[in-house]
Amino acid sequence: MERRRASCRLLERLTLVLLLLNRVVGRTVSVGSQWNWKLLLNNTGVVAMHMAVTHHNNVVIFDQTEAGPSEYRLRHQRKGKKCRTRDDSSCYAHSVEYNVLKNRVRALHLETDTWCSSGSFLSNGSLLQTGGNGEGSRRIRYYRPCADNRCDWTEQKKQLSVRRWYASSLYLPRENGVIVVGGRSVFSYEFVPKSSGSSGPYNLPLLHRTYERNSKGNNLYPILHLSSDGHLFIFANRDSILFDYKRHKIVKKFPTIPGNGGRSYPSTGSSVILPLDHSDNFTKVEVMVCGGAAHGSYVAAQQHRYLTGLRSCGRMVITGNHHQWRMENMPGPRLMSDMLILPTGDVLIINGAKRGCAGWNSASTPALEPYLYRPKQSVGRRFQVLKQTKISRMYHSSAVLLPDGRILVAGGNPNNRYILRGVAHPTELRLQALVPDYMSNRFDHLRPKNVTVVYPQHSTGVKNGQTFDISFRLASEPRNLSVVAYAPPFTTHSLSMNQRMLRLECLSSERGNRGLVEANVVAPPSIYVAPPGFYMLTVVNGGIPSRSSWVKII
Ligand SMILES: *[C@@H]1O[C@H](CO)[C@@H](O)[C@H](O)[C@H]1NC(C)=O
Ligand SMILES: *[C@@H]1O[C@H](CO)[C@@H](O)[C@H](O)[C@H]1NC(C)=O
Ligand SMILES: *[C@@H]1O[C@H](CO)[C@@H](O)[C@H](O)[C@H]1NC(C)=O
Ligand SMILES: *[C@@H]1O[C@H](CO)[C@@H](O)[C@H](O)[C@H]1NC(C)=O
Ligand SMILES: *[C@@H]1O[C@H](CO)[C@@H](O)[C@H](O)[C@H]1NC(C)=O
Repeated sequence: MERRRASCRLLERLTLVLLLLNRVVGRTVSVGSQWNWKLLLNNTGVVAMHMAVTHHNNVVIFDQTEAGPSEYRLRHQRKGKKCRTRDDSSCYAHSVEYNVLKNRVRALHLETDTWCSSGSFLSNGSLLQTGGNGEGSRRIRYYRPCADNRCDWTEQKKQLSVRRWYASSLYLPRENGVIVVGGRSVFSYEFVPKSSGSSGPYNLPLLHRTYERNSKGNNLYPILHLSSDGHLFIFANRDSILFDYKRHKIVKKFPTIPGNGGRSYPSTGSSVILPLDHSDNFTKVEVMVCGGAAHGSYVAAQQHRYLTGLRSCGRMVITGNHHQWRMENMPGPRLMSDMLILPTGDVLIINGAKRGCAGWNSASTPALEPYLYRPKQSVGRRFQVLKQTKISRMYHSSAVLLPDGRILVAGGNPNNRYILRGVAHPTELRLQALVPDYMSNRFDHLRPKNVTVVYPQHSTGVKNGQTFDISFRLASEPRNLSVVAYAPPFTTHSLSMNQRMLRLECLSSERGNRGLVEANVVAPPSIYVAPPGFYMLTVVNGGIPSRSSWVKII
């Protein structure tokens, strides 16, 4: 073991020397700004209000069932009855599965309304989806992903204890279930699946305290993150706490985030936890919140006045003893954006608007240029403006990172029906990919290829703290190699529920025959650092990521 550690350190030192050498001869590996947009489909049939990538490399997409006819007409209803009339809304799909390889969608069937709902992947890779509106507001649904096009939604008989419309969900590793927090006019949380007696609902005073009656709450869809100490970070409107959900107690109250406006629905900012790192044993957890709406936006939008959104982002370390929001400005005002962590450790800020707030026809001026945020650069050099798209993605749009490294971008519909023309912001059904410059061929000499994960013997996954082997091919000697694991989120309304990126420790790596590298990697130490489930494992060499392979942490 000692020898392996030594060889790893040697590798790191070698890397540093190589990088310095590179800089001296002026060939620093610098990833430029050649990001490209690609139109994948003209019609997904269904608005991508909610989106998630499954470990079978498919993307589950769904909207609301109450939007009337979608653009995906079914031949048969779910129970097999033939569809005869055009206006029977059960004869239209409201959910589809997108096959990434075939670039095709197929219809899925929802029984009740999933409008503005929440979801989390369980450790076995199934999606547990909760709530919605009307008859769907207390529903619990499962989606068990498959490779053979046969899977579909199932709805449970057991229901949530209260209506959860605009609630958030987070996976809880010890319970192998989720916590569902908030909802419209709901100031509580509960646990799903229900264990005997102790599932809630439990009152959450933070939601009372942050509620703004005249602004449709400004605290819906609260931001949730799991800290590596096992407590929950809960943020609503402008305030946040660290919460011990097992004892139902507040551990810490954090300072209010600066800026004169709200960050939660309908003010709708967005948030990530920055990548956690093995070098501090994953003990430093730093939250970032970006954008939102100006104070009074909701009332103004009712009168067709769209106030300029917030430009600021705040970063705060939630572990340790010193908590302070450190603020910085984005290149422009922004709300309703999605924030995704890329394999490089950078954060993509994409979709959204520059003015107004969330809700039907409540925003204007789409934010067409994504921003790349590079957390490790010095302040002032962190934001980069990327190539703009022509397609507006405001309310009810979403984005996810694909295992091949692209970003899938879909949806957008500020109308309460499917309206394809004749309005300022029509229903958007086109599907796009944003192709990062790190995917360009000119970096192929650096790109790790054929990443293979070897599970320990007699095992169907990797246990927390266990070491495991990976292999891949490299065309040249490794340069600042890192191995990252990414928990794919459930995205809706600018939240990426359960998203996290972990930079893993690599004990040794050796490049041998025909560029084959074998490396020994340590899985994150605890279920709170890396909750069990499927992760995208990516090898990054000199800033250029491989395609991801799925690894199951058990
Ligand atoms: C989308 O539609 C346009 C206009 O009809 C067409 O030119 C284009 O090829 C289509 N793209 C895809 C990806 O189907
Ligand atoms: C995962 O667990 C849930 C809840 O127990 C179950 O409904 C689902 O079928 C399981 N999925 C898989 C892939 O085993
Ligand atoms: C990489 O993997 C692909 C498919 O998994 C295989 O066809 C190819 O031969 C592999 N290449 C190398 C160099 O191992
Ligand atoms: C190596 O990569 C890590 C993680 O991507 C980064 O933090 C570090 O600064 C890089 N080191 C060098 C010498 O570039
Ligand atoms: C790292 O953290 C885990 C818990 O997350 C703990 O069990 C372990 O002892 C720590 N290791 C070191 C070297 O501090």
